[in-house]
Amino acid sequence: MNASKIAIALAIAYSTASPAQTTIPPYLDPSKEIETRVEDALSRMTLDEKIRVIHAQSKFSSAGVPRLGLPDFWTDDGPHGVRPDVLWDEWEQAGQTNDSCVAFPALTCLAATWNPDLASLYGTALAEEALYRGKDMMLGPGVNIYRTPLNGRNFEYMGEDPLLASEMVVPYVRGLQALGVAACVKHFALNNDEEYRNQVNVVVSDRALHEIYLPAFKAAVEKGKAWAIMGAYNLYKNQHNCHNDILLNKILKQDWKFDGVVVSDWGGTHDTDEAVRNGLDMEFGSWTNGLSWGASNAYDNYYLASPYKKAILCGQYSTAELDDKVRRVLRLFFRTTMDRSRPAGFLCSEAHYSTARKVAEEGIVLLKNDNVLPIDLSSARRVLVVGENAVKMMTVGGGSSSLKAQREISPLDGLRARLQGIAQVDYARGYVGDVTGEYNGVTTGQDLTESRSADELIAEAVSMARAADYVIVFGGLNKSDYQDCEGHDRKDFALPYAQDRLVAALAQANKRTVFVNISGNAVAMPWVDKVGAIVQGWFLGSESGTALASVLVGDANPSGRLPFSWMSSLDQYAPHALNAYPGTWRDDKKIIDEEYKEDIFVGYRWADKQKLKPLFAFGHGLSYTTFEYGKARRAANGDICLTVRNTGQRPGAETVQLYIRDVKSSLPRPVKELKAFKKVWLQPGESAEVVFAIEPSMLSFFDDAKQEWVVEPGQFEALIGASATDIRAKVAFDWK
Ligand code: GLC
Repeated sequence: MNASKIAIALAIAYSTASPAQTTIPPYLDPSKEIETRVEDALSRMTLDEKIRVIHAQSKFSSAGVPRLGLPDFWTDDGPHGVRPDVLWDEWEQAGQTNDSCVAFPALTCLAATWNPDLASLYGTALAEEALYRGKDMMLGPGVNIYRTPLNGRNFEYMGEDPLLASEMVVPYVRGLQALGVAACVKHFALNNDEEYRNQVNVVVSDRALHEIYLPAFKAAVEKGKAWAIMGAYNLYKNQHNCHNDILLNKILKQDWKFDGVVVSDWGGTHDTDEAVRNGLDMEFGSWTNGLSWGASNAYDNYYLASPYKKAILCGQYSTAELDDKVRRVLRLFFRTTMDRSRPAGFLCSEAHYSTARKVAEEGIVLLKNDNVLPIDLSSARRVLVVGENAVKMMTVGGGSSSLKAQREISPLDGLRARLQGIAQVDYARGYVGDVTGEYNGVTTGQDLTESRSADELIAEAVSMARAADYVIVFGGLNKSDYQDCEGHDRKDFALPYAQDRLVAALAQANKRTVFVNISGNAVAMPWVDKVGAIVQGWFLGSESGTALASVLVGDANPSGRLPFSWMSSLDQYAPHALNAYPGTWRDDKKIIDEEYKEDIFVGYRWADKQKLKPLFAFGHGLSYTTFEYGKARRAANGDICLTVRNTGQRPGAETVQLYIRDVKSSLPRPVKELKAFKKVWLQPGESAEVVFAIEPSMLSFFDDAKQEWVVEPGQFEALIGASATDIRAKVAFDWK
């Protein structure tokens, strides 16, 4: 019986009871304020019941209070789709036949849409799938900042800029929670790479912590009203982040007034006393590596289970900390499982596929185009598709965000469907990447085995390319270990599997060679000047092929903008230029100190400081039309305004970006910082006025001496652009 049915049954039981018993207890009365219900429920719970609700009882559930009719609480991964059910105490999937889902594009693609409305739609669709699958909390979204392009999990996050990530995470959280499904924003905090995620102790300045790494979490809490936050595996100031006093007690709960639940990452809890005192509220996955193995049925031995109960009974703790944890968990219950207005949800609906397609189409970024795209349907008769990523399923793998998609349209299938009756679409493997196709028991069912050598595959592709009107290469990374995958980072910046040789050879054979990079990360592109066009294709989920075909043939005009800086080489990224990744092992080899030496100068902030020219800038993305920016001006009310016009022949969308420069400041500041953006859709010839209100928060910086945000009066500049390096207009202004 699901949650709402239990609540209704109990309410009926009470309401049909004899007159003497007709009062519904406050905790069961939906007309009562949540806080009233929380206090009433807390007052009725025994010590054992309190202990049971603050730690897992299975891989992805924690106990309710059966005696009081409070249902068990179910969580599930992940940020871009509802993971298949696993067995009670296993990582392997349960093999159910009713838990296939829609795989939505990975969050780096969502960020690349620069469209907060789509983030809201995304959260709503995910909530509906979660509700239908009986999940009360989704373990996502992830908003860790893109610091190094080697991080295995960048594909799950929203890029390098705190403002962009903040603007995109808030509507996602609101969309999810509006239907009574909790977001669990992760991984709090400073979990910016995977290689040694359980041993990394991040050393970072207060300014970088507050100006770069915390803002998206702060926005999710203060504006998104997130009901849960997931602690990260790594350490900060030598304390594990799942029970970190500064991050959880001081910043999250005291400063940000977070009233929700802090959930440990799976296996991120290491100490009862710290877990009791430093802000952990729900312990999950202890004695597991969070991915594939763990002690069986260890739940009673969890740090917040019997050890904690024993410590209370012998007087080491009062129940003050316990009651605070339980209040937060009960609040979560009344926001989710006990919310009788929650809908039943939908699974794999056309509306969800439409959302997946819309996010994919709007997130695809046209990086380079020498008049090759869109494919000219009037003349294209033979299109050659090359590459393993044209056929390889990408929804399986990558770690905890792996899915069992009801369908995944491959790029090859998408193009074949779209060009049916128009052009012949041939396929050449081109290279062999990872032929396995399984993750925690979910298999792709694909047989990608290949006996031919790299040279033979390249030779075949090149000979076919010579006869084609277009060559579309789908390459990039994949969700295998040491690629875009949880648990490890990439070993280098280059494309794997000899793709560079393949692309260079194809570009030589056909000038209309297009490279579509399927990845969540930037990669080296030594052949960047040789190909006719480059598209960043992301991990697009169920509708990958449909969305890619739509953009490649011009049905959809690409409007994606990069959420991170794409440098030419790894040493142009700060952590690698400063030898600040992965860090320095301590003598005991148990902890690796990773000092964020670049401080606040992450991404384009670093490029500006070092006067480096990105291969493709943060915020960059081309369109099949063109846009003209008028002169920027400051209105009497202080707003920054300018007109944007579509000067091309196609409808299109332009993302107008506002960067702010503090001309003179008492502390070092980046040359400029993104402080607002607006995506405008314009018909050919149409203009729109874009207006940015200037708020003090857009001018402020974190003063670590004062431990607060400050705005220093003085001269500022508003830089309006189409990317971090394509500034189209400037307005100087004074701030009093
Ligand atoms: C994993 C991940 C986390 C995920 C959790 C449950 O190790 O770090 O993102 O939600 O464990 O699978």
